Amino acid sequence: MLIHRSGKVETVIVGDFNRIVIPALTSIRTAGGRLRGLRCVHTVLSGTKVSEEDIIDMACLRLDLISVLTLSDGLPEALHTAHLLPGDRDGRAWAELAPVHPARQQQSCIELIEAIEAEFVRFRPVRDVDKGRDLALLVSVTTGSRSMAEESLVELSELARSAGVQVLDQVIQRRKKIHPRFILGRGKLMDIMLMSLRLGANLLLFDQDLSPSQVRSVTDHTDLRVIDRTQLILDIFARRAKSREGKLQIEMAQLKYMLPMLSTRDDALSRLTGGIGARGPGETRLEVDRRRINDRIARLGKELKSVGRQRFHRRSRRRKRDVPVISLVGYTNAGKSTLLNTLTASDIQAEDLLFATLDPTSRRLRFPRDMEVIVTDTVGFIRNLPAELLKAFASTLEELQEADLLLHVIDVSNPAWRQQVEVVDNFLRELELENIPCLKVLNKVDLVQERGGVVPADDDGIRVSAIDAATLPPLLERAESLLQQSTLIQGRR
Ligand code: GTP
Repeated sequence: MLIHRSGKVETVIVGDFNRIVIPALTSIRTAGGRLRGLRCVHTVLSGTKVSEEDIIDMACLRLDLISVLTLSDGLPEALHTAHLLPGDRDGRAWAELAPVHPARQQQSCIELIEAIEAEFVRFRPVRDVDKGRDLALLVSVTTGSRSMAEESLVELSELARSAGVQVLDQVIQRRKKIHPRFILGRGKLMDIMLMSLRLGANLLLFDQDLSPSQVRSVTDHTDLRVIDRTQLILDIFARRAKSREGKLQIEMAQLKYMLPMLSTRDDALSRLTGGIGARGPGETRLEVDRRRINDRIARLGKELKSVGRQRFHRRSRRRKRDVPVISLVGYTNAGKSTLLNTLTASDIQAEDLLFATLDPTSRRLRFPRDMEVIVTDTVGFIRNLPAELLKAFASTLEELQEADLLLHVIDVSNPAWRQQVEVVDNFLRELELENIPCLKVLNKVDLVQERGGVVPADDDGIRVSAIDAATLPPLLERAESLLQQSTLIQGRR
């Protein structure tokens, strides 16, 4: 039996001789505390009292208590009860009470549960600032090295920060092979659940992209929201998009990402479609079915086409005017917007958040030798940028094809800058932009010097500090002469 704190019996489950299957609990209202507000009392026919399976179920479903009733000659013999603990006691995160005869129970269940809840709160008080916030555990399941997983988690936690999520802790599980259906073993899932209970997490953020069945296997066994890296990036994009085209593109990408998940059960979907702060495409998404999503995708496609046509006209007007175009490309947070601001003395949003810029911005710039150019800022790249997203931005990224010169902005203060350069170079190849002259701009040199690090050699690119206009003249000179060369070549053609 699953019994609510009010005393109401929520569910009666009939098992076979050695097991019971607890149904999905999503439709049952929670009691509002750390624990689920439900306790499970079940009988056993064979000798085991509180088994490991019981503990796993209790942890994964955040049950108030689990009680096992042993029988003797068909009559109740003793009630064995276990409950969760916020910290470890003798290396275990749960405790067992002394067995009692069911008719001779002294302690009130409710008092016991309230005491356990209070202990959890004492362990990590609920702070006012945390109310209504997403508090996440980062999870990485990997077949690669631990250091690579850690590095990737640093980026995931930056992404989380950009999405307004507070990261409480992280878990890395290394496996020989990742199971295509169950991304995590039940045991590991239990550890994660215990950790999330202890810390008060309400969200699991996976560094890997999860398949619908993997999301389901986690949501079936826990009652936390589960979000993967792609969904997190989509969510950040959804917050940032400002232009009509940007918003349309994001909605399209979100819907396309959701579609395969629709074949899984509803309860998994209800947690899955939420996104951070439930910022998904539209409020009614729980009722939307596949057909309606497909209709919406088709409609969005049409709208995007028409917006794209308008942009094409704008672009061809610009081409007629024959002003050379410089496009800034680079890893997210490299400092593209800052560089554009300092170059053109304008005031574009530059924030220490990933993907602060989403919509392409263009500014005019006059070079020292009186050449006028247009500088455009584009969306930043990130490793494993979801394919759906790259496709969604294809039309915006198409503008890059028009560039006469690319400035590849690199944040050399980031220890992983060489890998980031590689990621961007790969994207440029994928977008077939490798034929456009590209100048590498080693940015944030001031930060490297401040930290006493080694500034990369000159032959890697031009060293600048985008926040300091005094460092930019060598860049301007080099860019101008490259542009003149390429116009000369084009002229000769
Ligand atoms: P996305 O919009 O994510 O693509 O980022 P972006 O490449 O446009 O980066 P942005 O210009 O927003 O800069 C990111 C952060 O780096 C901001 O907090 C900037 O103030 C900071 N920053 C940029 N250039 C420099 C620099 O030369 N030195 C220092 N110290 N900080 C810099």
